[in-house]
Amino acid sequence: MGTFYITTPIYYVNDEPHIGHAYSTILADVLSRYHRLFGDEVFFSTGTDEHGLKVQEAAKKRGVETKTHCDEMVTRFVSLWEKLGISYTRFVRTTDKKHTFVVQSLLTYLYERGDIYFDTYEGNYCIPEERFWTEKDLKDGRCPSCGREVITIEEKNYFFKLSKYRDWLKDYIGEHPDFIKPETRKNEILGFLRNPLSDLCITRPKTRLEWGIEIPFDKKYVTYVWFDALINYISTIGVYRDNDAFQKWWPCDIHLVGKDITTTHSVYWPIMLKSAGFELPRTIFAHGWWLVQETKMSKSLGNIVRPIDMVDKYGSAGFRYVLVKNMVLGSDANFSEEMLTATINSDLANDYGNLLSRVLGMVEKYFDGTVPEPSVTSSIDRKVIESGKSLPEAVKVFIDRIEMNNAISAIFAYISIINKYIDQTAPWKLHKKNKMAELGTVLYSACEGIRLVTVLLSPIIIDKADTALAAFSEEGLNYIDRLNDEEEIFKWGKLKPGTEVNKIESLFPRIDLEIKEETLRRDRVDIPKDTELIDIEYFNRIDMRVGKVLEAVPVKGSRKLLKIVVDIGDEKRQIVAGIADYYKAEELCGKEIVVVSNLKPVKIMGTESRGMLLAAAKGSKLTVISVDREIEPGSKIR
Ligand code: ME8
Repeated sequence: MGTFYITTPIYYVNDEPHIGHAYSTILADVLSRYHRLFGDEVFFSTGTDEHGLKVQEAAKKRGVETKTHCDEMVTRFVSLWEKLGISYTRFVRTTDKKHTFVVQSLLTYLYERGDIYFDTYEGNYCIPEERFWTEKDLKDGRCPSCGREVITIEEKNYFFKLSKYRDWLKDYIGEHPDFIKPETRKNEILGFLRNPLSDLCITRPKTRLEWGIEIPFDKKYVTYVWFDALINYISTIGVYRDNDAFQKWWPCDIHLVGKDITTTHSVYWPIMLKSAGFELPRTIFAHGWWLVQETKMSKSLGNIVRPIDMVDKYGSAGFRYVLVKNMVLGSDANFSEEMLTATINSDLANDYGNLLSRVLGMVEKYFDGTVPEPSVTSSIDRKVIESGKSLPEAVKVFIDRIEMNNAISAIFAYISIINKYIDQTAPWKLHKKNKMAELGTVLYSACEGIRLVTVLLSPIIIDKADTALAAFSEEGLNYIDRLNDEEEIFKWGKLKPGTEVNKIESLFPRIDLEIKEETLRRDRVDIPKDTELIDIEYFNRIDMRVGKVLEAVPVKGSRKLLKIVVDIGDEKRQIVAGIADYYKAEELCGKEIVVVSNLKPVKIMGTESRGMLLAAAKGSKLTVISVDREIEPGSKIR
């Protein structure tokens, strides 16, 4: 059993929690829970960043004490994390006394060793706003906040010697391939380090800003928020330097961050640690952005997704699952409610939930609700058993590499093996022929496979896994803890024949899906640029065929949609495609196009669509993919 220490960024306490905050925290929680499941002892830290001018000003505006303001604001994060089932070990706040103590101790240490010095700072200052702006911040040379003129002023401040460590950091990053992930972010940082590195101004005079941690060697100053905030990763352990807790947890295994804050974490923080004589974290992992309609969420655009609304509407399990599955780590991803419900329906309701109720129903019907004894095994049974035995290890490898989407794909590939197994062995036929031994083997193996899958999904769909496991044991998730202590949770055959299964309500009821026209093109997850390649099996799950267009008409009430009927060999399919801006309906008739035929049906503007045609698009151009030579409709695309 090892130890695993993971952190999220600490979020600005003033902000209302949005889907990006939720994502970082859910991801850290899911990783923590997987590590616990695979036997590690885990320390998981999250929290809030509470100092700085914005917080001071917000409190002033509300007419409350700044600390009171923080105490009120922080509850929004704490209660959301509770709703989302976040299992953090510690919630750190930068206004905690313990944190202040660690920041001040570290400042004193760095000052005494000569890495902090006093100097003059020159910058663009806005008098009414009482703050400095960097050259980049300025809008046409003016204050970006109030639009007034800025003046150049000088101010005495303390500086931290970043420049001294630039070459060391470059070498360190080069020698430690896992230090910054993914590769794109690492290359960005190496690029950044090719230029000279300025020293960092780490103080603000109290005349401008009071709300911060006082500089222990000069009481006229407070600490710059980033310098203060980064130290949370040490202060959260609760101690400083050489005691047991510090020895046990430091260095951190993963600092999970959004790509926006890679530089502070991969340049400032390592240099602060190096200067203080600490080891560096093993990995800084920068995930991409959740976008809404392919743009960044912002208050001014009014497109902020409130996680609390999603959880209230769709439940925490589904929301957690969709966020973790649909962002290929490192890339950006697009969020919409349609994407959320479609993923819950297809994966959790259809593939997993239905399998569970189907199998439990058959155990009820054919064996009076008691898990049967397995006996004879054929090659079909063996496939289910062998794949089940190797699944936990496969998932663990992906988790160790933080490849969440691959871990989920592996679990769902196994669910699909069990679903096929049921279809192929047709338990209802075995029952009819009175082949009870074979039937017992099939239903036992299916139950055991589902138990394994549920345990492996439990870090993501916590409460639903609890309900599903309760079908095989009254204990629900406690069952995982108990068997985990015995290290037997993943052993094939752990489910005892004779166990009475309990009826459960439909685990993931289908959510009715009505796609809005404008979101049709939008649910796109970025293609991984620098991460993994997919294997052929993954690709083979997509069934593509040649389809001959028999009919095409505009969809009533829509400018963009065409309703198309295609002959795909053994049937005629109706497809709705958002191409009316590019093609007239009659242009398409008779064309042989490429159709993805195994998509789940959806309703678009009230019209059913059962499949999708392929088209190439760039900028304002779009062309439907057609075949080069005539071939029978229904021919498979390989
Ligand atoms: O930067 N998609 O706090 P913050 C994905 N206090 N993740 C997102 C996101 C989005 N659209 N928007 C935000 C701070 N995040 C500092 C951190 S740490 C020592 C100090 C996530 O409230 C992402 O993890 O702005 C990002 O890094 C973090 O929220 C920033 O939260």
